[in-house]
Amino acid sequence: GKVRAPTHIISTISDDRGEEPCYAGVPMSSIVEQGYGVGDVISLLWFKRSLPRYCTQFIEICIMLCADHGPCVSGAHNTIVTARAGKDLVSSLVSGLLTIGPRFGGAVDDAARYFKDAYDRSLTPYEFVEGMKKKGIRVPGIGHRIKRGDNRDKRVELLQKFARTHFPSTKYMEYAVEVETYTLSKANNLVMNVDGAIGTLFLDLLAGSGLFTKPEIDEIVEIGYLNGLFVLARSIGLIGHTFDQKRLKQPLYRHPWEDVLYTK
Ligand code: ACO
Ligand code: LMR
Repeated sequence: GKVRAPTHIISTISDDRGEEPCYAGVPMSSIVEQGYGVGDVISLLWFKRSLPRYCTQFIEICIMLCADHGPCVSGAHNTIVTARAGKDLVSSLVSGLLTIGPRFGGAVDDAARYFKDAYDRSLTPYEFVEGMKKKGIRVPGIGHRIKRGDNRDKRVELLQKFARTHFPSTKYMEYAVEVETYTLSKANNLVMNVDGAIGTLFLDLLAGSGLFTKPEIDEIVEIGYLNGLFVLARSIGLIGHTFDQKRLKQPLYRHPWEDVLYTK
């Protein structure tokens, strides 16, 4: 019989060998003709399946709401400084992307991991938050530099409103709201942030859609797909900041001495 030469790469998400490229088996022509959006393309290339409209709409809302948050946040600041140092688009973009991590924008996966574990183990908000404190870990998805209990993050409210209207269940996010009520009783800046809203609502999307098995959900959470949403979204804004600085012909940035505490 035929002997198959061993391959060095295995790939399961796309195929460019035929007449037209396919994403998870769906040809480009169907993607265009059926009016698919970027949420559908993400569903195919990340989750290897088509998702219902409310799910792809949720993905698109996450991307639109996280596309930018002004010039002062970590990522945009790095991108602006890099663009002003005369660097190219890709360098300016990745310089901003490299700030995404446990404190800024990259807490989505950990929020999903910790809130899922706490909810699934039926921990009360008090047990969860105080348990994290004992371990010396800040609760991912909670806290913001400028948002407060009396000045909530509009993005979080918009995501919650959409999910409460369209998702079959929002149990993980509602649990995060209970946790937020407890953390807000400790300090006014310990609000649910956009990473926490996306992390917990994505758990609800995965569990509520009925399209993912439990081992598949565990694998998505374990591998950590969800920071990808913030990375993808924020790239839009970081590219915009690069063009903005170049359009404005901004000179090399140098931080003012007055804003540095020189001390021994
Ligand atoms: N869980 C528990 N306690 C917290 C948390 C938290 N998530 N955040 C702050 N605190 C408490 C701690 O007691 C902290 O003291 P510590 O330094 O001894 O731990 C105290 O508040 C003061 O913290 P600050 O560092 O002054 O708060 P800051 O405003 O700098 O922090 C931040 C903001 C970085 C977002 C923080 O709340 C945090 O680490 N949150 C978890 C990570 C996260 O969700 N990041 C995503 C933010 S949203 C975004 O970037 C798009
Ligand atoms: C963001 O989306 O960049 C912010 O929530 C972070 C910030 O510091 O405002």
